[in-house]
Amino acid sequence: MKNKVLVTGGAGFIGSHVCEMYLKEDYEVLCVDNLSSGKVDNICHLLADDRFTFVEADINDTTKMLAIFQSFRPTIINHHAAQKSVVSSIEDPMYDLDINLGGLLILLQCVQKFPIEKFIYVSSGGALSKVIEGTEKSKESDTPQLISPYAITKYAGEKYLDIYANTYGFDYTVLRYANVFGPRQIPDGECGVVPIFVTNILANKPSVLMTYPDMPKGCTRDYVYVGDVVEANRLVSEKAVNTVINIGTGDEIAILDIYNTILDVFEKDIAITIEGPRAGDVKRSVLANDRAKELTGWTNQVSLKEGLVALREAMLQQQA
Ligand SMILES: NC(=O)c1ccc[n+]([C@@H]2O[C@H](COP(=O)([O-])OP(=O)(O)OC[C@H]3O[C@@H](n4cnc5c(N)ncnc54)[C@H](O)[C@@H]3O)[C@@H](O)[C@H]2O)c1
Repeated sequence: MKNKVLVTGGAGFIGSHVCEMYLKEDYEVLCVDNLSSGKVDNICHLLADDRFTFVEADINDTTKMLAIFQSFRPTIINHHAAQKSVVSSIEDPMYDLDINLGGLLILLQCVQKFPIEKFIYVSSGGALSKVIEGTEKSKESDTPQLISPYAITKYAGEKYLDIYANTYGFDYTVLRYANVFGPRQIPDGECGVVPIFVTNILANKPSVLMTYPDMPKGCTRDYVYVGDVVEANRLVSEKAVNTVINIGTGDEIAILDIYNTILDVFEKDIAITIEGPRAGDVKRSVLANDRAKELTGWTNQVSLKEGLVALREAMLQQQA
């Protein structure tokens, strides 16, 4: 058996796929999740595996987290738990601060007492994008726009992690994800454009596209398939890079084009209405992925269309 890994937010959309990967790679996995947006359904197929443990707990509960660290003694922390919505972070910045920064600091406090080898922290390439001009792509070294509390807490988390890693002597990797899509993503808020559109399309309901007046096809984003994101987690669990890396495709796609590709894959034809703008949304986002390639060998393997076909197949399988 390989190392012991503590996955926070492991009952969520991305975290549950990450837990699956770790078991496939023969890690011992402890998943901590308070089920605020995650679901036991996402991990129930893993519960029979004696290398997998699920603890329903809040990462902001210091006493509980210290007890978990003391008994499990993880060597790797994979931190996916978060408040993930830009809009919610504007509506309730204290909650965002509490979970996204306070929660991280509690984990780092635990690490001080119970040393680890590697820490994987999930940040957001989209939210931390700079203002993109022309054909450029957002690089890790750019100065981020920081136009939402969510962007600020994720960015501050990256900086805290760097300080703690240097002070307490462990390796780390910050994975700045692009917009992730795939099976198990729930249609909530602005984070799940793909599942929101898919849910509406399957119910024959029109969708709403929130955008700025000068972006008639919608804001642009970089959509990366969850399987590719999981592979990035596998690589940095083997070998940390001690810096920030973007995990995105480098392809800039307008939201209206996403909608039309979904219509195509799901063989439907339903109208969309255009509204907006929505505070906190960056207009354009596309991530340069050269650093991830150079440091880890990671490249995205699944195109938007292939990912949507995989999503459709997973949904059909679930219904069967
Ligand atoms: N989905 C994306 O496109 C995307 C893009 C960039 C970054 N991210 C980041 O990836 C991570 C996972 O996102 P996701 O899309 O899978 O969202 P998700 O909501 O499905 O997963 C987050 C998980 O964290 C859990 N959680 C939240 N607060 C907690 C707490 N206080 N204690 C314990 N568990 C808690 C939730 O119950 C949920 O299971 C987040 O850090 C998010 O910010 C996601």
